[in-house]
Amino acid sequence: MPADLRYPVSSLCEVQTLSVITPDHTLFVCTQCATVRSNDQPQGKSGGQELLDELTRLAAAAQLPEQVSIEPVRCMFACEKSCMAAFSAAGKYTYLFAHLQPATAAPALIECLRHYALNPEGLLPYGVRPEPLKTAVLARIPPQLAALPQPEPLAPAV
Ligand code: FES
Repeated sequence: MPADLRYPVSSLCEVQTLSVITPDHTLFVCTQCATVRSNDQPQGKSGGQELLDELTRLAAAAQLPEQVSIEPVRCMFACEKSCMAAFSAAGKYTYLFAHLQPATAAPALIECLRHYALNPEGLLPYGVRPEPLKTAVLARIPPQLAALPQPEPLAPAV
């Protein structure tokens, strides 16, 4: 692991804990963010592709469980706020992260993904988010109501 990684990813190897996770969790990464263009042609690797490459490398080392995947997307329509990534899972809040720097955001996203996967509602309060993600939340979108757990019926009064 490079010395500049500030957030250990070893906790993602806690498969015995993560085995309780039931829904699929996806980390979407925009690979088109921070693309340098000349004469309308992309020059070199985009910042988004750098972020995806670093996430893929860290995820392999962290041995992510089957329920967690990293998926490239081509644009999330927030191009002025690149680099962009998002957490999503059925029945959980969706988090949209902006202004991500690949080198610092990648290990932070991997670490934060663990918290997201373990929280039943997918909540990521300020205190549990690694430093690069504390102010990077652009949006928190509620889960669809049909996916939320249904409350237990009230017991009749005696
Ligand atoms: S290019 Fe990444 S959000 Fe549009």
